[in-house]
Amino acid sequence: MKPNNWTETLLAWFDGFRRELPWRESHPRNPYHVWVSEIMLQQTRTETVKGYFHRWMEQFPTIRDLAQAPEDQVLRAWQGLGYYSRARNLHKAARQVMVEWDGQLPRDRKALGDLPGIGAYTVGAILSMAFGEKVPAVDGNLLRVLARLYGVEEDITGTQGKKTITALAEAAIPADRPGDFNEAMMDLGAEVCIPKHPRCGECPLRESCRALKEEKTEVLPVRKAKAPQKELAAACGLVCREGRYLLHKRPTKGMLASMWEFPMVLDPDPDKARAGLEQLLEGAAGPELWHHRHVFTHQIWHMTGYGMNGGDCPEEGSPDWAWLAPEEWDQRPLAGPHAKLAAWLKKTVDSKEKV
Ligand code: ADE
Repeated sequence: MKPNNWTETLLAWFDGFRRELPWRESHPRNPYHVWVSEIMLQQTRTETVKGYFHRWMEQFPTIRDLAQAPEDQVLRAWQGLGYYSRARNLHKAARQVMVEWDGQLPRDRKALGDLPGIGAYTVGAILSMAFGEKVPAVDGNLLRVLARLYGVEEDITGTQGKKTITALAEAAIPADRPGDFNEAMMDLGAEVCIPKHPRCGECPLRESCRALKEEKTEVLPVRKAKAPQKELAAACGLVCREGRYLLHKRPTKGMLASMWEFPMVLDPDPDKARAGLEQLLEGAAGPELWHHRHVFTHQIWHMTGYGMNGGDCPEEGSPDWAWLAPEEWDQRPLAGPHAKLAAWLKKTVDSKEKV
């Protein structure tokens, strides 16, 4: 087989095995659907994204609807997907598209790349899938599949490794079906050429695969080891006044920006986290009512929910603090791990009321 003949084999396989996914339904593809789904899929599993995508399109059927929505509504629609800067950037970009492009995504690499939250991968996905342009969408799947197929030994997390693979993808992508090529690579990467123990017996490209031939499927791709996640104790205070609990809006920048949380202090040392919480709320941390371990890409939070004895709002009157009854919590976008605490607390409060 000549080096690039595998693309035809790949596309024939895709014609038979492509996954039915909600954002693949419109023909031709709706650029807004491609954009939103690609952003949702960046850090989130396909199964999870399906439901969110449907609900999103019901709430914000067009770029105009998204641009006109208040930020809180957008963040609430995103609640549970994590990495909220993605939602904030979608929202900002939608507003920019209304002003600069009359509500239509531009068919242009540079103009797309100038929109908040749209990097090289998303540019490739939108241009190829929605506009039929010959641009690869270089994601983790494509990097892994091509590293194995061509036996690339460079670190695929590094700039040089990515460059090598992007060049291979640019040489292989066919002019007549660039979007299908990119999605076929994603499907193959998700279902067959999976990270651990690839299913080479089922692979349509096994005849062309250098890693398989050289028995390197378990060692390729090469990935530099990641720095270990930072482990932090997260002391959360449950302060209740006449059925209302104290909640805090996180700063507008940084992790979980602008999301709501129960008052919380982070520290590597659990005793210091608890002492910090007592100082913040001017109350004594009582019993440990709830425990949860939450894993982010760069941090792990060991969360403890303390019932507070006493405790007050550190900035009464500030819009960043609010006393809210459980039935009002849904109106605020809660930070993911705090939504877990809220769900537990709601259940507990409900069952107490029933007794
Ligand atoms: N993951 C990222 N983008 C995708 C797409 N368009 N289809 C399936 N999985 C994906």
